[in-house]
Amino acid sequence: MAPLSDLSIALAFPWPPSAYLWFKSLHIVGVVVWFAGLFYLVRLFIYHREADDLAEPTREAFRSQYALMERRLANIITTPGMAVAVAMALGLLSVQPAWLHQGWMHAKLAVVAILLLYHGFCYRLMGQLREGTCRWSAKQLRALNELPTLLLVAAVLLVVFKNQFPTAWATWFLVALVVAMAASIQFYARWRRLRAEALALSSTTSRASS
Ligand code: HEM
Repeated sequence: MAPLSDLSIALAFPWPPSAYLWFKSLHIVGVVVWFAGLFYLVRLFIYHREADDLAEPTREAFRSQYALMERRLANIITTPGMAVAVAMALGLLSVQPAWLHQGWMHAKLAVVAILLLYHGFCYRLMGQLREGTCRWSAKQLRALNELPTLLLVAAVLLVVFKNQFPTAWATWFLVALVVAMAASIQFYARWRRLRAEALALSSTTSRASS
C-alpha cells in the first residue's frame, strides 16, 4: 500500500488535542448536509421528469422552476456539504493517519468513491433534465434515489464497527433493505396507476351523467 503510506505521511500534522473532535463534529455536519442535498436533489429530478406529462404552458413553467431549484440546491447545499465532509475527513486522517492502513478505512474510501461518482452523475442528470434530453423515467429515478441510502448505511456501519465489522449481518441487512426498497417502488407505481385509472373513470362517469 505504498500510495496510502505516502498519503498518511503527507497528512500527518501536529494538531492541538481538541482538533480531532472539531474535525469529527464538522465532518458529521458536512455529511448530514451532503446527504440532505443528495436525497432532495433526485426527488426534484423525479418531479421535474413528471412535469413532462403536463400540458403547456404549465409544463414549461414547472420545468424551468424545477431546473432553478435543482441548480440552487446542488450548488448552494449539496456540493458545499460534500466539500466540508471531505475536508474534515482529511483533517481526521491527518490526526489519525494509521487508519489509512486498516481494511475498514479502505472499504469506507471505496464507498465514498462511489458516492462521489453518484454526486457527479447527479450533475450530469441535472444538465440533461435542463436540456430536455434526460432518458431516465421517473420510476428509474426513484430507484436511483435509493443508492445513497445504501451507501450511507454502509459508510456508517464501517466507521462505527471499524475492524469488528459484522460482514455477514451487514450484508443481510443491506440485502433486506434493497428488497424493501424495490418492493416499495413497485407498490407505489401500482398505487399511482390504480389511482389514475380511478380518477379517469370517475371523470368519464360524471361527464356522461351531466
Ligand atoms: C471522504 C471520505 C471519508 C473519510 C476519509 C472519513 C473518515 C472518517 C474518520 C477518520 C472518522 C472518525 C472515526 C472515529 O472517530 O471513530 C469518521 C467519522 C464519521 N464518518 Fe466519515 N469519512 C469519510 C466520509 C464519510 C461519509 C460519506 C459518511 C456518511 C455516509 C461518513 C460518516 C461518518 C460518521 C457518521 C462518523 C462518526 C462516527 C463515530 O463517531 O463513531 N463519513 N469519518
